[in-house]
Amino acid sequence: MKVLVTYYTDSGNTEKVAKAIYEAIDQAEKEIVPLAEAQNKDLSRYDLIFYGFPVNASSVPAKAQSFLKALPQGAKLALFSTHGSFRGGPLAVTGIYNAMSLAKQAMALGSFCCQGKVKESILEALEKKPEHKPWVEEARSAVDHPDVHDLEEARDFTRKMLTKAGSYLS
Ligand SMILES: Cc1cc2nc3c(=O)[nH]c(=O)nc-3n(C[C@H](O)[C@H](O)[C@H](O)COP(=O)(O)O)c2cc1C
Repeated sequence: MKVLVTYYTDSGNTEKVAKAIYEAIDQAEKEIVPLAEAQNKDLSRYDLIFYGFPVNASSVPAKAQSFLKALPQGAKLALFSTHGSFRGGPLAVTGIYNAMSLAKQAMALGSFCCQGKVKESILEALEKKPEHKPWVEEARSAVDHPDVHDLEEARDFTRKMLTKAGSYLS
């Protein structure tokens, strides 16, 4: 099996998860590259593509969207994201739904999300507006993430995705 791990990151959180995913891939030919590099690859050569992004405005960052739109028909996709909001909360879940709707041609096999520390400059700017205060409080709980438990869960997710993708090969 040929597996690609690619990710977009601004402050490094999503890259940490990407590396944990990459480490957990065994018994497969694997590659890890930042998104800018993955855009030049022939994506039809991979049996499974892990794609990670930081949630921005409840979606995929604008410059990280074209990759999802350009995935080949039927490409097996495992999505992962990091976000400031609580895990499993509506804002985090919306990010994954938006990614799936951008990747219309692909077959999403599953997704993994965890919190990721939000840049202090963003929190300070948002805190000045009363309507954003509740979110800022929520996002401050992301300060120690991704942590070792998040990364362990990311490895478990990886194994599940590999099994799922493998079932399409046999
Ligand atoms: C411009 C900007 C917009 C963001 N929007 C959201 C958001 O809508 N929801 C959320 O949960 N986190 C949001 N975040 C927080 C990031 O998703 C989070 O910190 C993420 O872990 C950053 O990942 P990175 O270090 O890989 O860039 C935003 C961060 C930035 C900088």
